[in-house]
Amino acid sequence: LVNGELKKWTGATTPVYSTISSTANYAPTLLGTIPAMGEKEALEAVESADLAFNNGQGLWPTMKVVDRIKCMEDFVTKMKDTRAEVVKLLMWEIGKTLGDSEKEFDRTVEYIYDTIDSLKELNSRSAHFSKVQGIHAMVRRGPLGVVLCLGPYNYPLNETFSLLIPALIMGNPVVFKPAKHGVLLLSPLLEAFRSSFPKGAINIIYGRGREVASPIMKSGKVGVLALIGNSKSAIALQDQHPNKNRLRLILGLEAKNPAIILPDADLDLAIQECITGSLSFNGQRCTALKVLYVHESIAQEFNTRFAAKVDALAFGNPWEKGVMLTPLPEKEKPAYIQELIDDAKANGAQILNAKGGEHSDNFIFPAVLYPVNKSMRVYHEEQFGPVVPIISFKDIQEPLNDMAESNYGQQVSLFGKDIKTIAPLIDTLVNLVCRVNLNSSCQRGPDVFPFTGRKDSAVGTLSIHDALRSFSIRTFVASKDN
Ligand code: G3H
Repeated sequence: LVNGELKKWTGATTPVYSTISSTANYAPTLLGTIPAMGEKEALEAVESADLAFNNGQGLWPTMKVVDRIKCMEDFVTKMKDTRAEVVKLLMWEIGKTLGDSEKEFDRTVEYIYDTIDSLKELNSRSAHFSKVQGIHAMVRRGPLGVVLCLGPYNYPLNETFSLLIPALIMGNPVVFKPAKHGVLLLSPLLEAFRSSFPKGAINIIYGRGREVASPIMKSGKVGVLALIGNSKSAIALQDQHPNKNRLRLILGLEAKNPAIILPDADLDLAIQECITGSLSFNGQRCTALKVLYVHESIAQEFNTRFAAKVDALAFGNPWEKGVMLTPLPEKEKPAYIQELIDDAKANGAQILNAKGGEHSDNFIFPAVLYPVNKSMRVYHEEQFGPVVPIISFKDIQEPLNDMAESNYGQQVSLFGKDIKTIAPLIDTLVNLVCRVNLNSSCQRGPDVFPFTGRKDSAVGTLSIHDALRSFSIRTFVASKDN
């Protein structure tokens, strides 16, 4: 979708295979193909967005907020008709369970409506006059420029749209390249995008990152790089911009969120929350719990019960009832997880659960590793998959020191009951991460809550309200009292 046109593609294509197999013996199904675009098409897309921005003089950035909202309302109305198809593709392309796929779609629709409401509120407040030293100021929010939007494969709809929708509605033309997995599910939405927005406001291209995203960055026409993914790609893209001072960044990056389980924690609750926290969508969430710190006085009981509960988790196709574990879209992931397990075992850890590490095709059963320490790769790497490292601690300062040394700082889960212990701990934890979850696992939502991180975990803040601010600049008209 470039310059308001759905282009016919006659060039080379890339096949998209399913994560799920339709046969008993794993054989990926060919779901479709996507255009293998290159520099020429990438430059056309960024040209189109640049023209739509036209140094802030274009139709989209100058359009009244109420009219931009009408375009977005039109889009979301059409989007709702694609639910069944998008949900099906979420299951087949990335192996997300039926319940989670439906949740992802519905959450996205809700996200768009909430964004519209939030913009209406922001807009009414922006018109507010203030008077200081005889000067009135009328504040408003203006767009920043062309946004290059790159989303992740684990939330190809919801998280991608948490960048794309606020960027667009604030008057910024967008160039969007979907992730490698979860790419076909954008197809049912292309016509809705085309018919709801003026030409050039939203441009969607396909291809490998280095073949399309690099020329776009090198063109110097990008005002905002909005990316959810890994810091390596973010740094590489940033560095390609010819004038980095003009580039704004909104980045959601890696994390290694810990859970801390104190001696007086409700163990049933802590175990359940740590299961969903570490293993929903097979651990492929930046908010997943990546290490569990358990107080030594309860470690044996916690570990035994946690490991048994992991072994009881059902594996299967995403649409089957009660299934939590599903095949992994990244075919190389099981071998990588196996490497981490082998390395941990070689350095003194054991697999606590009987099924831990069992392979079949593009699936590996989650392994619970204990005792984990800093000599192991699994301690340091953001593994984004089904493995749960456990560390026991004697003194609370041990996990706090590890968090302070970590390169990441997104969230933490704290399990315990005694408010006298918890209250001072919270004061410390909020300076190490951006969200402390009390007696619950880490998560991004609800989407009105700020979503960000310290250190290498994020740049900028997302949420319904924050994203509208992140993708705009505050401008004002000042007039003197006469
Ligand atoms: O991958 C990172 C996502 O932001 C996780 O979102 O906590 O809603 O699953 P979630």
